[in-house]
Amino acid sequence: MSINPQTANLIHATEVLEANEWHPLSWNGKPIQQLPPYPNTEALQEAYNRLRALPPLITSWEVEALKEKLALVSEGKLFLLHGGDCAETFDACKAPKIVNMLKVLLQMSFILVHEMGTPVLRIGRIAGQYAKPRSKDFEVVNGEEMLNYRGDLINSFVPNKDARTPDPQRLITAYEKAALTLNFLRALSDEGFSDLQHPEQWELDFMKNNEFYKDYEAMVSSINKAIHFMETITPNTINTLHKVDLYTSHEALNLYYEAAQTKQVPRKSGWFNLSGHLVWLGNRTKQLDGAHVEYLSGINNPIGIKAGPPFDLEDTLDLIDRLNPAREAGKIVIITRMGVDSVQKYLPAFIRAVKQEGHRVVWSCDPMHGNTFATDNNVKTRRFNDILEEIKTTFAIHRAEGSYLGGVHLEMTGDNVTECVGGANGLNENGLERNYETYCDPRLNYEQSLEMAFLVAREWNKSYR
Ligand code: PEP
Ligand code: CO
Repeated sequence: MSINPQTANLIHATEVLEANEWHPLSWNGKPIQQLPPYPNTEALQEAYNRLRALPPLITSWEVEALKEKLALVSEGKLFLLHGGDCAETFDACKAPKIVNMLKVLLQMSFILVHEMGTPVLRIGRIAGQYAKPRSKDFEVVNGEEMLNYRGDLINSFVPNKDARTPDPQRLITAYEKAALTLNFLRALSDEGFSDLQHPEQWELDFMKNNEFYKDYEAMVSSINKAIHFMETITPNTINTLHKVDLYTSHEALNLYYEAAQTKQVPRKSGWFNLSGHLVWLGNRTKQLDGAHVEYLSGINNPIGIKAGPPFDLEDTLDLIDRLNPAREAGKIVIITRMGVDSVQKYLPAFIRAVKQEGHRVVWSCDPMHGNTFATDNNVKTRRFNDILEEIKTTFAIHRAEGSYLGGVHLEMTGDNVTECVGGANGLNENGLERNYETYCDPRLNYEQSLEMAFLVAREWNKSYR
């Protein structure tokens, strides 16, 4: 049985709108993938109206500043580190998780800055990454057929029919959890989070098994350099060593959540999604005539476009045109997620075509989503080496095409989970069950993330140093 996408609920916009004009709900009525209908339309409308009335999580100035920085990435002047959970959960909105995520993102960016000598732009998959596309609409648990879990923004992980019914109240809870997360992130960033600026405190012992350990050791011992690279991180703002920039992002999947927070602001034209600085179009919702593309075509935010199999070059070029007709710099981040076996097949022609069309995009590599597999025990995992190989191949292709690979997009966590196999610590399939936490895709753990940062820097240096 498959959800009929046409039956998604129709709700009403509160603004006075011209017919045929884009507006936050103009997608409503178009074919929509990956969003099962809410059975209670009245409750949905009520939650939508409530969410719409709440203050924005971010500001239009921040969105514009991010776009300017992304334009610098597209020119090869910055490197983008984009990462975080596959799916945030409401329960995980807790101090240690947030601190650990910020910590690992910062530490990775320090490694990149130090090893590459280039400033790094950080975007978290955080404070809104609550909705998930799934390959199957339904699953059967203990003989009962129910909707699949689609992220806390839509339904509950608890396996029973009621809990799996899309619940509009979750739109409000997601906003609240995002607000709490963001509030804490901003507080930590403002006060410098000074521990993080001392590489000698990093837990790098695990690297001892690694062939690059000497490099790591050298880096950790160079505290003076570390202070210097902090300055490099915030090149335009002397005296802001204590402030750490982290932008937020999530997949624009639940369009009710996105639309309710899409606003006009005084003295600026157009609409801003004020729930996250960057939002991205998932690989499963990229249909040109679909609701998600319609929604994303009307907002001023920078937009990520996931690009992977099934991959059609012409459709993807049309998509980029549709989302950035004005060819604005810093607007589009193409996040390729081809899989280690497909990247050579699609990427070279893709890079050439985008160049030929005159688009100035940020190219980023998501080496995670094309490399997922299930073990014999049916545990979803990824191999550290496949992830690394996709990164290496992607760098090599960009290098050969005279193009700048400006970023990586990783699913990772600051916690000591056991979800991906491999890495210096040699986690194998038997070890996966020790601390397998994710409700969705497997993430690099703390050690694997730091190690990956070193390896990304090495590849970048081969291409651009
Ligand atoms: C994701 O980023 O978690 C995801 C589902 O990616 P994709 O749309 O590329 O499959
Ligand atoms: Co994922």
